[in-house]
Parts: sequence; C-alpha cells; structure tokens
Amino acid sequence: MDGLRPRPAAAVFDALGAEYERAFAGSAGRLASLRRLLDALAPHSRVLDVGSGTGRPTASTLTGAGHDVLGVDVSPVMVELATRQVPDASFVCADIRELDLEEGKFDAVCAYFSLLQMGRDDQLRLLRKLRRLLVPGGVLAVATVPLDVEDVPVVFMGQEMRVSSFDPDGFLATVTAAGFSVLWEHSELFTPAHGAAVPEPELFLHCCPD
Ligand SMILES: C[S@@+](CC[C@H](N)C(=O)[O-])C[C@H]1O[C@@H](n2cnc3c(N)ncnc32)[C@H](O)[C@@H]1O
Repeated sequence: MDGLRPRPAAAVFDALGAEYERAFAGSAGRLASLRRLLDALAPHSRVLDVGSGTGRPTASTLTGAGHDVLGVDVSPVMVELATRQVPDASFVCADIRELDLEEGKFDAVCAYFSLLQMGRDDQLRLLRKLRRLLVPGGVLAVATVPLDVEDVPVVFMGQEMRVSSFDPDGFLATVTAAGFSVLWEHSELFTPAHGAAVPEPELFLHCCPD
C-alpha cells in the first residue's frame, strides 16, 4: 500500500463535495449521454440516479425537463448539496447495494461513475439489481472508467481510495451478463478541471433490459 490510506466512498466524496462538480462539469460524454436519455424518455418519467453526487448536471437536467428523479448517494455531504441545488428532486443518503427499492418502478436508471468504488462482483450484482428496478423497455445510462483494475489503491483529486473496474470489453461483458443489451456506446478521454487530475478514459453506455 506504500503509505496510501484508502477511505470508503462516503469519506472521499464528503471531502470532495462541490469540487467534484466543478472538475467534471466539462465532460462532453456525460452531456451527450444525458441528451440522448432526454430524447428517449416519455414525459414525467421516473428516473433513479445512482451515486447522484451534487445533483448537477444529472438530476438538475432531468427535473428541468419535467421528470421525477430519485437520487441515492452514500455521501452525506453530496446528498446535502444535491438537496439544496436541486430542490425538485428527492435524494436519499444510502449505500445503493443495501437500499430496498420497488422493482419495476423506474423508466430509467443513471449510474455515472458510481460503480468504481465497488468490487467487480458487487458491480455485477448491482447491475442485476438495477435491471430489476427498471420497467420493461426502460433504459440504463451507465458510465465508467474502463481500466482492467481490481481493488487497486489510487489518488483521485488528492483523495486516497481503492477502485475496481473492467477494460471496455470486460465492462460490456459484465453489463451483458447482468441482463442488458447495449443500445449506444461512447468513449472519450477526459481531463477533469482539477490540478491533481490526470486524463482518464471514459465509457458511456445506454442499455435496455433483455
Ligand atoms: C465519481 S462520483 C459521480 C457523481 C455523479 N454521478 C456524477 O457523475 O457527477 C461517484 C458518486 O457515487 C457515490 N457512491 C459511491 N459508492 C456508492 C454506493 N455504494 N452507494 C451510493 N452512492 C455511492 C459517491 O458518494 C459519489 O457521490
């Protein structure tokens, strides 16, 4: 571990708070994914945002278009920020893996970069759970940093944490194993606007339950 003291997701994102929103505001891939989602949704759709962060831009964009958004985040600071910034959405502070939600309730689920602090097995289990939460014909919009790493220590925006992910083919295989078909795929290299950030590959998928 060489002196790294990784902390759980809640502590990392409590420390980052609004700094995360500023650093990632320019992600063109996420905006393209959100635009595509808006085009696909019927009026007044129910959307679950997993790892909702500060509520911007995901919950704010979706509520602004008249959709009904529930955000879930394990970081109390993020939930407080999101509740203040996006008063028309609802936010819950919880670990999505442990939260009981009604199955077949959501027209769409967003999970932008919120799987990375879970082990690979948990990512697959969670994707299966998200599939059960969707209505037939619903949409999962998911994004990750597609690297072949398992439980490795990293420093992200100055914060020590452990991450797990898959290379692009591995992530596609995981989403497929969870019971989804991929409708749209977009990859790009993005450099967060933060002094301690480095360019990162980003992979965005839109998927529907099989
Ligand atoms: C990298 S940030 C992305 C935030 C937002 N989705 C975005 O794209 O702007 C990941 C978010 O997921 C949350 N998160 C990580 N693990 C989680 C879990 N097990 N349950 C709920 N939220 C989680 C973190 O607290 C953080 O706010």
